Amino acid sequence: MIYTITLNPALDKTVEIPSLTIDSVNRITTLRTDPGGKGINVSKVIRKLGGESIAVGILAGNTGRAICAAVENIGIKTAFRFVNGETRTNLKVIDPINHTNTDLNEPGITISEDVLNELLSELLSRIQENDIVVLSGSLPKGSPEDTYSVWGNACKKAGAKVILDADGELLKNGLTSSPYLIKPNHHEISELMGKKLEKPNELKKAARTLMSQYSIAKIIVSMGGAGALFVTPDETIYAEGLKVPVKSTVGTGDSVVAALAISEESGKNLQDTVRLSIACGAANVMCSGTQAAEYETVKKLIPEVVYQNLIPLPPASVFHLSVSFSYDSCTSGCNSFSCVLYSSPSFLFCGILST
Ligand SMILES: Nc1ncnc2c1ncn2[C@@H]1O[C@H](COP(=O)(O)OP(=O)(O)OP(=O)(O)O)[C@@H](O)[C@H]1O
Ligand SMILES: [Mg+2]
Repeated sequence: MIYTITLNPALDKTVEIPSLTIDSVNRITTLRTDPGGKGINVSKVIRKLGGESIAVGILAGNTGRAICAAVENIGIKTAFRFVNGETRTNLKVIDPINHTNTDLNEPGITISEDVLNELLSELLSRIQENDIVVLSGSLPKGSPEDTYSVWGNACKKAGAKVILDADGELLKNGLTSSPYLIKPNHHEISELMGKKLEKPNELKKAARTLMSQYSIAKIIVSMGGAGALFVTPDETIYAEGLKVPVKSTVGTGDSVVAALAISEESGKNLQDTVRLSIACGAANVMCSGTQAAEYETVKKLIPEVVYQNLIPLPPASVFHLSVSFSYDSCTSGCNSFSCVLYSSPSFLFCGILST
């Protein structure tokens, strides 16, 4: 089972106001509400992909009840703990005339450490070997800074594979629990490493450093429209972002995390994981707000995903020697030869032996 943890959920209220004007009365033309928070978004995408997950988190008041009902309506199982107060509502104002997006986010509730501990105990009582726990998003006020490392360690000890998607101090702290997989974007990993990283090879090096420093099995670095890098102990794959019409980039990271969780649960190989993740990210940007894309859209995009293994270029002397050897052999007419080809533009190395 996949458990998504949303400790600081929100009701996302998205309104359209043509020509939004400050210090004036504005008319809302369309309004929609969606249950939000990163873990809940991951659960929504998993559901669309035909998977199952249990959404775990903390809710409060009428807004909390509305979120719980909406999540269950989608067909997602829940294990929310209710506390006093009112879950926050985040207002997103879209102005289709001036093409602006304005967010007005409430501060949200303050929780006690006891509530967190009770919720964690309940989760641990459910976890079975090889379950997946997705820790993602911000923490409510009152949470200790080391919450993700405490939860990560406890879930791992209970047999779960932990996927961590957080930023700043929460990510830094969560790393100390050696999560199974992390999905920083290129800005988040740059912040971790203390320098701006953009190129796939720079990001690969940083990911490998983090992997050995914190014993992390898999690191996926998303790079917005430029795609993503998938780093495992044996392989590094760089996949380009798909060229699709962009409606909203909100929650794209969450859709990739959902694809990664599903892939892990179903034991997909790395290539299929790459295809699903990139297709999911692209399908998500084609949707407005935090709406999850339809599986049909994702399936149509899967064959379009382009990726390559990143393998270091062999030394230049070997490059020249091998090319000339293969040319001579191939034109000599003998029926037994070996042909070795290094392809430098794509950094690929292919070894071909034929008789
Ligand atoms: N403009 C785009 N066009 C095509 N694909 C995109 C675009 N933006 C994002 N994606 C896809 O979605 C993936 C995740 O995007 P991104 O790196 O922006 O995540 P993120 O920064 O973690 O997002 P979030 O705001 O949800 O945390 C990318 O790796 C890419 O495959
Ligand atoms: Mg993100």
